[in-house]
Amino acid sequence: MQDDDQYDLEFEVFKKDVKNIIGVDLNQYKPSQMKRRIKSFISKYNFKNLKEFVNVLRQDESVLFTFKDYITINVTEFFRNAEKFEELRLKIIPGLISNAKGKGKSDLKIWSAGCSTGAEAYSTAIIMDAYFPGQNYSILATDIDVNIVKNAKIGEYKDIEVKNVNTKIMEKYFEVQGSKYKIKEFVKKNVKFTLNNLLEDQFSSGFDLIMCRNVVIYFTEEAKELLYKKFYNALTEKGVLFIGGTESILNAKQIGFSMNNNLFYYK
Ligand SMILES: C[S@@+](CC[C@H](N)C(=O)[O-])C[C@H]1O[C@@H](n2cnc3c(N)ncnc32)[C@H](O)[C@@H]1O
Repeated sequence: MQDDDQYDLEFEVFKKDVKNIIGVDLNQYKPSQMKRRIKSFISKYNFKNLKEFVNVLRQDESVLFTFKDYITINVTEFFRNAEKFEELRLKIIPGLISNAKGKGKSDLKIWSAGCSTGAEAYSTAIIMDAYFPGQNYSILATDIDVNIVKNAKIGEYKDIEVKNVNTKIMEKYFEVQGSKYKIKEFVKKNVKFTLNNLLEDQFSSGFDLIMCRNVVIYFTEEAKELLYKKFYNALTEKGVLFIGGTESILNAKQIGFSMNNNLFYYK
């Protein structure tokens, strides 16, 4: 095992290599957690040090994908924080529809940012289909991880990921295939998945609802602040940003969000 100073030095070089190889800037993630997680990854896979690990990263695509999955963490489930999805359905979406109508707009533009395998985007599509029939909407769902986006398009889930799905919704929106739960094709028609790095890439705008939940946990405060400003700019007037159950936006008012209704921030 190396001593901590040596590790810190190597880590600085490692961050540059990772940026070049997989396009993720580790400087924008909290350093202590990130170092700890990477240390545990390289010891799990028996690499001697960061240098050896980087050499393998350059050559072995499977290690590269495993590592990218590991640092970006993609645990998800349908209707995560079910009571908040109820609030979304009962209060937030009706408000957004009436705002859109007031502006003469007939559709809702929704973004699931950091969508993982798509459970959040499909949960929202199910709500729209089941409770707001006839309402036009589109859902953009983005993630940094190419494999994750591929899986999201397929839309196949494990039982733990659908534990909040009730029987009625299950019957209507999923095909049960053994121990797998596959989202039905018609649910996908308004959902578009693409790659996007929230810390680097350009955002489009005019969204009525942006959902960015359980994505920023390991981002630095600076990275989070910049991201929330970009989300604010990407929202339409009176649009809503929906964040994760354990998250809050410290400087929401300074950014311009006018009302915080516990996890729902209004522009
Ligand atoms: C824990 S999952 C959250 C999924 C979903 N939003 C939810 O709450 O269930 C976090 C996702 O954020 C993605 N992610 C991490 N860093 C990202 C970045 N810089 N840009 C875009 N997506 C990122 C990961 O690939 C992962 O799929």
